[in-house]
Amino acid sequence: MSVGVRHHQETATALEEAQVLRREPLVPNLQLLTVRAPAVASKIQPGQFVIVMADATSERIPLTVADWDRKEGSVSCVIMQVGRSTYKLGDLEPGDRLAAFVGPLGRALDLNVDGTVAVAGGCYGIGSIYPVARALKERGNRVIAIVEGRSKFLLYWLDRLSQVSDQVLVSTKDRSLGKRGYCPGLIRELLDAGEPIQRVIAIGCTFMMYEMSEATRPYGVKTIVSLNPIMIDGTGMCGACRVSVGGQTKFACVDGPDFDGHQVDWELLLARRKAYLEPETIAAER
Ligand SMILES: Cc1cc2nc3c(=O)[nH]c(=O)nc-3n(C[C@H](O)[C@H](O)[C@H](O)COP(=O)(O)OP(=O)(O)OC[C@H]3O[C@@H](n4cnc5c(N)ncnc54)[C@H](O)[C@@H]3O)c2cc1C
Ligand code: FES
Repeated sequence: MSVGVRHHQETATALEEAQVLRREPLVPNLQLLTVRAPAVASKIQPGQFVIVMADATSERIPLTVADWDRKEGSVSCVIMQVGRSTYKLGDLEPGDRLAAFVGPLGRALDLNVDGTVAVAGGCYGIGSIYPVARALKERGNRVIAIVEGRSKFLLYWLDRLSQVSDQVLVSTKDRSLGKRGYCPGLIRELLDAGEPIQRVIAIGCTFMMYEMSEATRPYGVKTIVSLNPIMIDGTGMCGACRVSVGGQTKFACVDGPDFDGHQVDWELLLARRKAYLEPETIAAER
């Protein structure tokens, strides 16, 4: 029996008839999709993800969960529209049914840490760090949320993050809000100032997570990243999501998606994510 199958059984993964409840544009290119999926909502934990299919002929798309409401039986994801399938998902309207909505998948984040934790997010990751910050705050941690965007108009949920964080720090490339630059610059500033940060948790594009890991490495601060390799089945059976961590091959869908950023082979991950660039470009243009 593979690790994937074992994990699949442990989490009692649900495949349910999910119906779109709401879709809200957050900023250009990012949509918040809220779906009725009571079985997933009843079990999901920070750090886990779902795999969705917009319709019967769609690709399977992994999405981290940005929020859930166990009472309403709903799960919300922030979708960054980058290609054919994410544009399709962003076109869904309330009442539409998704062909598949499977989860919770992956391991829950290990939040067993005392003291101050910095949670960093960019693009869809700004939504994904919200439940992480909320869970850390609920267990009594001091939480510093740090977010990045090219410009102020690409940032969202700063108000929601401030409700579950002690401090929200913002960075923009064009200096339209907060400090100039990106999350790695902010974490360096905090660590240089002697902020007693016990752990960093970063979710966003691969390059941002790589840079966050490099920023904290000299300070020896444990940095957890949520890896986003190509995934297909999400249950450890296909091997598509394999990554190298600490010299060992891991399947991000069942061993992760969260790993120690100081141990990840980033070069390999960045190269594997580009494996289907040509067909993806053709599909997006169709
Ligand atoms: C665990 C996990 C959580 C994720 N969470 C989110 C999220 O919350 N919000 C969000 O917008 N995106 C998230 N992603 C990325 C998202 O799955 C991809 O952007 C999406 O699959 C792209 O599909 P597409 O057809 O629109 O674009 P395509 O044109 O097919 O691809 C665009 C880029 O997306 C990546 N990609 C394509 N297919 C996959 C796939 N099956 N698995 C992973 N990456 C792929 C590739 O790097 C590619 O270059 C997550 C990925 C993983 C693995
Ligand atoms: S083994 Fe992870 S997606 Fe298939």
